[in-house]
Amino acid sequence: MILVTGGTGLVGAHLLFHLLNENQPIRAIYRSEKKFDTVKRIFGYYTNNADALFDTIEWVKADLNNIPQLTEAFKDVTQVYHCAAFVSFEPDKFNLLQKTNIKGTANIVNFCIDHKVEKLCYVSSIAALGASLNNKAITEDTEWNKEIDNSVYAITKYGAELEVWRGTQEGLDAVIVNPGVIIGPGIWRYGSGSLIKMIYNGLKYYTIGSTGYVDVNDVVKAMIQLVKSDVKNERYILVSENLSFKDFFTKTANYLGVKPPQKEAKPWLLNIAWRLDWLKHKLTRKRRVLSKQTANSAVTTTIYSNNKIKDAIGFEFLPMDKSIKTTTSLFKNDLK
Ligand SMILES: NC(=O)c1ccc[n+]([C@@H]2O[C@H](COP(=O)([O-])OP(=O)(O)OC[C@H]3O[C@@H](n4cnc5c(N)ncnc54)[C@H](OP(=O)(O)O)[C@@H]3O)[C@@H](O)[C@H]2O)c1
Repeated sequence: MILVTGGTGLVGAHLLFHLLNENQPIRAIYRSEKKFDTVKRIFGYYTNNADALFDTIEWVKADLNNIPQLTEAFKDVTQVYHCAAFVSFEPDKFNLLQKTNIKGTANIVNFCIDHKVEKLCYVSSIAALGASLNNKAITEDTEWNKEIDNSVYAITKYGAELEVWRGTQEGLDAVIVNPGVIIGPGIWRYGSGSLIKMIYNGLKYYTIGSTGYVDVNDVVKAMIQLVKSDVKNERYILVSENLSFKDFFTKTANYLGVKPPQKEAKPWLLNIAWRLDWLKHKLTRKRRVLSKQTANSAVTTTIYSNNKIKDAIGFEFLPMDKSIKTTTSLFKNDLK
């Protein structure tokens, strides 16, 4: 029995769809039935049979921090894909981030050990890697630097990785993937999908930084291949290409048929913007859209190496142009 956490999210739903080809019983945890439509919509991008395929999955209601519910979810489980996480860069969400990402992952690791699970695959992030000190590409060996101003999200994804490594010391076989910004269809309201929506609605500014991007179907294909392989107790960066924000925004805008952002948001402007955002949040309690750390990373050029996964399992990434083309086309269809 394969267990998937985060099955109602972007990565988890795509993973479930790919796992359906594996001819193994699949169980997924969920928190609210309301999210089932998202999973069916995502399946619907790839098949006419979405409802029937959805019904082949055994759905068990469980929160990452509810031990009795997890006990139910772990019955007869042999492999675990842990995709569930809280994704937020808002500093005042630190407690929930810690509880979900670190404590929640510790629970999953403990259950995997107790149930002698064959392999755990944990979805981390490039945010949990160290920063390059010499402008060289970041690799899986780039050490975490606690001295720099890490985002609350990064701190908790790094803390979650430590829980997985702790599990490997206690005898668990695990593999960690560190994806870049994941591009894929289905969830436009938040996360990376909201970036596409923002560009569609007319983004005026770009920034000079860069980061790594990867297609959602590549993320889940790599996860499945790594679990099937002999590889264990290693982490792998999943980045197809490193793109400047300007390039990514321009490519996306062009496929969406809207005007790309024309003006550069200079670092001084971003420095004012995140402070104003903080003030607005304090006065109105509206959610933060820009933190000091996200403003900094928007103007930082960061390059990630994808050599390790290519060498380990010969993985080939979909070019980002194709990923953006498909995702924006499905976005436009969903608008109809
Ligand atoms: N999207 C990206 O660009 C990106 C990049 C790098 C790494 N990642 C990592 O990839 C993984 C999946 O991300 P995603 O984009 O698929 O995120 P997502 O769409 O926000 O999905 C998150 C999933 O986690 C579940 N979840 C959150 N808190 C939970 C809890 N306390 N108990 C049980 N389930 C809980 C959510 O359930 P509900 O539906 O009930 O909320 C949802 O199924 C995460 O670990 C994220 O850190 C994402």
